[in-house]
Amino acid sequence: MVKEIYEEIERLKKEKDAVILAHYYVPGEVQACADYIGDSFYLSKAAVNLKASTLVFAGVTFMGESAKILNPEKTVLLPDTTADCPMAGMADAERIQRMREQYEDLAVVCYINSSAELKQYADICVTSSNAVDIVKKLPNKNIYFIPDKNLGSYVAEQVPEKHVILNDGYCYVHNQVTKEQVEEIKSLKPGVEFLVHPECPAEIVVLADYVGSTKGIIEYATKSDKKEFIIGTENGVIWELQEKNPDKKFYVLPGGQTCASMKKITLEKVRDCLKTGSGQVEVNEKLRERSKLPLNRMLETAK
Ligand code: 13P
Ligand code: SF4
Repeated sequence: MVKEIYEEIERLKKEKDAVILAHYYVPGEVQACADYIGDSFYLSKAAVNLKASTLVFAGVTFMGESAKILNPEKTVLLPDTTADCPMAGMADAERIQRMREQYEDLAVVCYINSSAELKQYADICVTSSNAVDIVKKLPNKNIYFIPDKNLGSYVAEQVPEKHVILNDGYCYVHNQVTKEQVEEIKSLKPGVEFLVHPECPAEIVVLADYVGSTKGIIEYATKSDKKEFIIGTENGVIWELQEKNPDKKFYVLPGGQTCASMKKITLEKVRDCLKTGSGQVEVNEKLRERSKLPLNRMLETAK
């Protein structure tokens, strides 16, 4: 049955001139049918200059939206248009405006995990893998980091020469990790390294042996001589970690970390959107023009 769906997806990809991009957090069997698998930064780069006329984005809505903003001439399909990221809208246009009035040299730095609606107010976008480098490179002293307070606080810590103003958005999957959960697994697995995503709160990040994006975590564990790791990010990464490192062991935090929206993406939905052309992403031209600027600036600055 599953084998038949994979075959159907392969056939449809050729028929519709389509490629599939998948984030590490979608279910493993969906990652297995993808042409490009990665973290948000990798996927945003991969989405540019693809030859295929249709891109299927196996991820949440802001990811499909970014792909469409960067490729207006292409058809971008979302297998499930209700797969929203709750953090994507957690900032406020009026507050951004007030900040701009208060700080003359303000740079509004917007995590790519945000809606186009929000990106249009930003000077530059960042992802978890390039936020520190990009903020370092900005000429501005005052930075308003939206929407994620935790990634913002990690950047503030890493770039002390800047004045980083934090917003109050967060990713519920990472923000809910507690010290008690980390202590519990560390006591069960003494000496095992703890690898953490910077969307986790600062009090969790300080307990980590490595802090980085999903791709960073996968690369770190893959290059390491160590054989066991505790993973402090969404459990979808375990699939790629295990693919790349069949001889290593990965432990998730007690209770696990699951993004309900990412898990809405199933093989059947990928097949169906390819078959029927459903889930087309549309971004109106004015919004697209405005939100494209910070995205392109990120791609340029991160080169
Ligand atoms: P990265 O892909 O940048 O690691 O971000 C994680 C995330 O929360 C994606 O939704
Ligand atoms: Fe949004 Fe967090 Fe899910 Fe990523 S893991 S899509 S940031 S809720």
